[in-house]
Amino acid sequence: MVRFFITGGNPLRGTVRASGSKNATLPILAACLLQGAPNVIQQVPALKDVTTMCDVLEYLGARVNREGDSIRVDATHIQSLEVGEDLMRRMRASNLVLGPLLGRFRRVRISHPGGCNIGSRPMNLHLKGLKALGARIEEKFGYITVEAGKLEGAEIHLDVPSVGATENIMMAAVLARGTTIIRNAAKEPEIVDLQNFLNRMGARIKGAGTDVIRIEGVKHLNSVEHAVIPDRIEAGTYLVAAAITGGDVTVTNVIPEHLEPVLAKLKEMGFLVETGDEHVRVAAQDRRPRAVDIKTLPHPGFPTDMQPQMMALACLAEGTSVITETVFENRFKHVSELRRMGADIKVEGQIAIIKGVERLTGAPVMATDLRAGAALVLAALAAENGTVVEGVEHIDRGYEKMEQKYTALGARIMRIST
Ligand code: EPZ
Repeated sequence: MVRFFITGGNPLRGTVRASGSKNATLPILAACLLQGAPNVIQQVPALKDVTTMCDVLEYLGARVNREGDSIRVDATHIQSLEVGEDLMRRMRASNLVLGPLLGRFRRVRISHPGGCNIGSRPMNLHLKGLKALGARIEEKFGYITVEAGKLEGAEIHLDVPSVGATENIMMAAVLARGTTIIRNAAKEPEIVDLQNFLNRMGARIKGAGTDVIRIEGVKHLNSVEHAVIPDRIEAGTYLVAAAITGGDVTVTNVIPEHLEPVLAKLKEMGFLVETGDEHVRVAAQDRRPRAVDIKTLPHPGFPTDMQPQMMALACLAEGTSVITETVFENRFKHVSELRRMGADIKVEGQIAIIKGVERLTGAPVMATDLRAGAALVLAALAAENGTVVEGVEHIDRGYEKMEQKYTALGARIMRIST
C-alpha cells in the first residue's frame, strides 16, 4: 500500500520540467509491432503504464531494452498474437496492440478490457473501423479475435472522435492496400505524434490534428529513432499546483499550444499566465481565484484528463463554478473525497456545481484513479494541516517522480509504503 503524507499551506515556487507524454508513448510503443526491425523511442517517462506496455511487447516476443529515458524495441521475432486477461486488466491501453498486430500479421486476439473506474469504455468504434478494413471480428469467452485475409483501405466515420479507435485504425491501415480515410477522427496532440512516428518509419499519413485523416497503405517500414512529445496533462497539473497554493511555477519542456484550453481557464480565473517557446508560467495574484464554468470535450476542447484537477482549484474560488463532464460517464469519483476536505460540491448527473469555500482542511482521502489522485494531492497541497492520500499506485501510473517534483517546488510531501 503506497500513501502520500502531505502538509499543505506552502505556496509552490520555482521551475519544474515536464516529462514525456504517457498517452503518446503507449501507442508509439505498440506501433513498433508493425515491423520487424529495432526502433528507439526517446523522452519516455518512467511510469507504471509504460512498464506494462513493455511487458505486453515482451510477452508477444519483442525484445525491449530500457536505457535512461530511451527504450529500444525490436519486434523482429513475434511469438504470440494474443494478450491475456492479466495484462489487459492491468492496463486498458494494452488494446492498442490490435491495430499493429492485425496490420502486420492479419490476426490478433485480446482479452476483453471491460470497463474501468471512469466509465464503461466500450471498444465498438475500434472494431467497427477494423471491420471496415476487411477484418472479421469474433467476441467470445471474454476474448476479442480479429482476423483478415487481406486488409483494404476504406472510408470510416467515427460516431465519437475516440482517441484509441483513431490510433488503432491508423496503425492497421498503414500496411493495408489502398487508401483509408478516417472522418470525425480524434485531434489530440498524441494522434499527431503517432502520425509523425509512423511517417518517419515510412508510412504515408496526412491530416492528423484535423478531423479527417488519410492513410495511403505501404509495403515496407524502416527502423527509426523518435522522441515523444511532452506530457501536456502532467504540465497542466503542475500549473494548477501553482494556482491552488497561491504560488508561482514555471513548467519547462512544454508545447504551450497543447495546453491552450487549460491556460484559457486559468486566465479566466484571474491567474497570471505567461508562455514562451517551450515553457509556461502561472502565478497567483493577491486575490482569490474567480469561479469558472468548464465543459470537457475532445481536443481542442477542455481535456477531461484535467477536469478533476480544475475541480480541486474551483473548490477555493470566489463564487460558484459549474463543471460538465461530457467524455466519460463516471468521472466524478474525486467529489466525495474533496467533500471530506471541506469542499461544497453538488452533483447532478454529468454536472458538478462547486460553491467556493475559504479553505480546505486536511483529511484521510482515497485516490480511485489516476487524475482523481492528482486532484486530491493538489487539494492537500492547499489544505490546512496534514492529509494522507491512499491509492498512490494509481498516481504512479501517470506521474513520474511526483513527490520529488513537488518537493523541489517547496511542497511538504512524503511517500510512505507499508
Ligand atoms: C484516451 O483514452 C486516453 N488514454 C485517456 O487518458 C483520455 O481520457 C481519453 O483518451 C480522452 O481524451 C490514452 O491515451 C492511453 P476515447 P481512450 O476512446 O482512447 C467512448 C488518462 O488519464 N468510446 O477517446 O480510451 C468512450 O467510452 C487517460 O491518462 C466509445 O463509445 O478514450 C468515451 O466515453 C484516462 N466506443 C469516449 O468515447 C469506442 O470504441 C472517449 O474515449 C471507444 C470510445
